[in-house]
Amino acid sequence: MSTDDGELEASLEGREEFEPPEAFVEGANVTDEGIYEEFDENWPECWAAAAELLDWYDDYDQVLDDSNEPFYEWFTDGTLNASHNCLDRHVEAGRGEEVAIRWVGEPTDEADRAITYKELRSEVNAFAASLRDLGVGEDDVVTMHMPMIPELPVAMLACARIGAPHSVVFAGFSADALATRMNAADSEYLVTADGYYRRGDPLDHLEKANDGLAGVSHEVSDVVVVDRLGDDGFGHDLADNQHDYASLVSEHEGETVEPVARDAEDMLFLMYTSGTTGEPKGVKHATGGYLSWVSWTSQTVLDVEADDTYFCTADIGWITGHSYIVYGPLALGATTVMYEGTPDFPERDRLWEIVEAYEADQFYTAPTAIRSFMKWGSEYPERHDLSSLRLLGTVGEPINPRPWKWYYQHVGGGECPVVDTWWQTETGGMMVTTLPGIRKMKPGSAGPALPGVDVRILDSAGEQVDPGEAGYLTVHKPWPGMLRTLYKNDERFVEEYWSEYSDEDAGEWVYFPEDGAGIDDEDYITVLGRVDDVMNVSGHRIGTAEVENAIVGVEGVAEAAVVGGEHETKGEAVYAYVTTEEGQEGTDDLRKRAVESVEDAIGPFARPEEVVFTPDLPKTRSGKIMRRLLEDIANDDDLGDTSTLRNPGIVEDIQQHEQATD
Ligand code: PRX
Repeated sequence: MSTDDGELEASLEGREEFEPPEAFVEGANVTDEGIYEEFDENWPECWAAAAELLDWYDDYDQVLDDSNEPFYEWFTDGTLNASHNCLDRHVEAGRGEEVAIRWVGEPTDEADRAITYKELRSEVNAFAASLRDLGVGEDDVVTMHMPMIPELPVAMLACARIGAPHSVVFAGFSADALATRMNAADSEYLVTADGYYRRGDPLDHLEKANDGLAGVSHEVSDVVVVDRLGDDGFGHDLADNQHDYASLVSEHEGETVEPVARDAEDMLFLMYTSGTTGEPKGVKHATGGYLSWVSWTSQTVLDVEADDTYFCTADIGWITGHSYIVYGPLALGATTVMYEGTPDFPERDRLWEIVEAYEADQFYTAPTAIRSFMKWGSEYPERHDLSSLRLLGTVGEPINPRPWKWYYQHVGGGECPVVDTWWQTETGGMMVTTLPGIRKMKPGSAGPALPGVDVRILDSAGEQVDPGEAGYLTVHKPWPGMLRTLYKNDERFVEEYWSEYSDEDAGEWVYFPEDGAGIDDEDYITVLGRVDDVMNVSGHRIGTAEVENAIVGVEGVAEAAVVGGEHETKGEAVYAYVTTEEGQEGTDDLRKRAVESVEDAIGPFARPEEVVFTPDLPKTRSGKIMRRLLEDIANDDDLGDTSTLRNPGIVEDIQQHEQATD
């Protein structure tokens, strides 16, 4: 770090508030602070502003239909098509030669790709025609298990064009996880790839996808395989129902598929996410509300404009990539940057190299990445000219003031606002964050709720907490981007999200996202993290039950309890406490098998940091495992009162076993 940085850092250390930079405010999309009051007074009609960002075939009748709470409907009877909104309307407006996707592969000797709106539209058309030809009809769920290659957004938009919902399964998920998701969605079609590059080496993806397909309990009609690796491929032969992507697209080149008019409430996609039970939840998003929400938040929060180059480092396999790499930026006609690889390959300045090369206007990433950048040092961003950046964003987990300030200073040069955006797979898009041209920033706090979004922090009795107290984050008004239900499970939808704080008799419906939070006297919200049994590991949401199920399935294991422990860069890491069956020792081999089982059931990203063998697990008198206590043990925190345990002596035992493992 140069001396200048040191001085600047020292000067920032005591600062708790940052005003929006003047140069940013001058050109910002939203600068009128009256928007908060206006949206409050004019709710829910205020959300017409979001719908107006889209092209509709049929106008909607009602902004919000709340006659069947909590199954809200937005922009009722309106019809539209997401693929038309992300492609055709820009081409029709004469912007066909503008770059839609700027794709950067991981190998540095491979040419980057610039795909214009016109080119993207024609490939989407050709692939939509291919899917139709294979028999994909409206409302058939098409699963995608794909790395960060342009064919992924092409496939998503092709599905949207023909009204087939997509269900994208992050490429890092295991074969079992893919099969579980295809089974849950009754999905008969899969689009995948032969592989991709990771840290310089080709990685075999098709083998895993094929293993997953073997676990699907219904017949899979067709599989499309993108040849990403070419000569570096692993020589898999395609089965009879497997088709080469490039051949399909060239067969259908030049064909036009009219975008299907979808009802605003028709499903655009499904996304499986982790919950408290081992069974993933199929979050269902609707076409009109979701697309309006991601467009409006991209415009107001990320300040995206049509001539911007916007770079988000998420993976499209998660919700951030859906909303803020694909749908939001493309609906607004911007250039969205997609990068295949990791931030530190071949060197730790790869992302800054990309920002400089394409003069990115916005950069949106996760706190776990920022903590790594900070650890690597400011020399890496300093190697590059990052002056094109106008705004920085963060999402996925709480960010502490120190990494926030590092980001502001070393990436933003003190001239870009930082938006800390709180939201979830279920909310579709952002909910709590500062509006960058209006509100001051307070590092560590995401900010106030967006205009028209009613977030309150309640205590367990349902009363609003005082400023400075911690409580539970709750949402008191519906919003267009909200999930509509859990796929084929309305009951679980109501139970999971609407049962904790709603008063059904009084007709008061309150959405509970399962996050803890505090609020200050200016309504700035500090999100503390999940209050259910869900961990947040490097911004990835992982259910403790999913990991426990995988470990308990290992021969020789009797019981397992999994908790998230604090971790310097990952935010949280997976800690597993395991008891063995009679006669089975806690050996290195058993530990290895437990770890492998988690990788097989979920994926390497869920791998336990530590597997601690212990003679017993701490339990209450009624036999419930005391996870909270295990969390305190993992974090070396004060354990408080342990006398209510059925087996209080176990605590010391576990601590000793843990030291032995360290
Ligand atoms: O705990 C919150 C945390 O991430 C959870 C949602 O995870 P997922 O559905 O995978 O979506 C991640 C990307 C939107 C939330 O329940 N979270 C997300 N953003 C923030 C956050 N925690 C604190 N601050 C944030 N900005």
